[in-house]
Amino acid sequence: MDGNGRWAKQKGFIRAIGHENGTKSVRETVETCAELGIENLTLYAFSTENWNRPKLEVDTLMKLLVSSLKKEIKTLQNNNIKLNAIGNLNSLPKKVFKELHEVITKTQDNTRMTLTLALSYGSREELISVVKEISNKVKNNIISLENIDESVINKHLYTQNLPDVDLLIRTSGEQRISNFLLWQIAYAELYFTDVLWPDFTKQHLYDAITDYQKRERRFGKTSEQLS
Ligand code: FPP
Repeated sequence: MDGNGRWAKQKGFIRAIGHENGTKSVRETVETCAELGIENLTLYAFSTENWNRPKLEVDTLMKLLVSSLKKEIKTLQNNNIKLNAIGNLNSLPKKVFKELHEVITKTQDNTRMTLTLALSYGSREELISVVKEISNKVKNNIISLENIDESVINKHLYTQNLPDVDLLIRTSGEQRISNFLLWQIAYAELYFTDVLWPDFTKQHLYDAITDYQKRERRFGKTSEQLS
C-alpha cells in the first residue's frame, strides 16, 4: 500500500492525511475482495524498516491502526471476516497489540475471508526466526536434518496457515518487493500500478485481477504440459 506520503504532498497536506485517506482504500479493497470470494488478503501495513521513520509519523500510523481496528470490528464480524496478523508483533506498542489481539480473538471463528495485516513485518527477519526455530529443533532431535524440506519451512513461517501468494499488487509506481513475503511469492504474479494507494479503488483492483486472469501460470512447466 505505497504512496500515501506522495499523495498527501501532491495535495499540500501533511503525510498523516495521506495515511488517513489510505484507510479508505483499505476498506474498499477488503470489501471488494470479500465480495469477489477471495479467501485471503494480506496487507503490508508496516514494515520492520518503517520504525526508522520520524517518531511523529510512526505514532500517527499506530494511532490510525488502533482507531481503524476499533472502528472496523463490527464490519469484520458482519461480513464473516477473520483478522490475522504477521510480523514481530511483540515490538508493537502495547495499545496496538492489545487491540489487535482483541479483534483477532473476536473474529477467530469467521470463515469467509482471512484478512492478514503485516505489521512490523520483514521477510528477512521472518526467515531468520525460521532458521533459528528449525536449528533448535534439530539440536534437540525433534527434526532430523534430512527431513528439512519446503513443507518444514512453510510450517515455521508466520504465514504457516496461509497459502502461497497468487497475486502481489504494489501501488505508487515503485517496482520492488521491499522485504515482503520473499519465500511466499516464489511463484506469485506481480502487478505494479502508478496509482497512489489513497487513490486505489475497486476498479483498480478489478484491473489488477483481470490482468492476473490473462496470465499463464506455468510453475516451471511448458504451456503444452499445462493444456
Ligand atoms: C506506504 O506509503 C504506506 C505505509 C507505510 C502505511 C500504510 C498504512 C495505511 C494504508 C493505513 C493504516 C492501515 C490499516 C490496515 C488500517 P508511504 O508512506 O511510504 O508513501 P510514500 O512512499 O509516498 O512516502
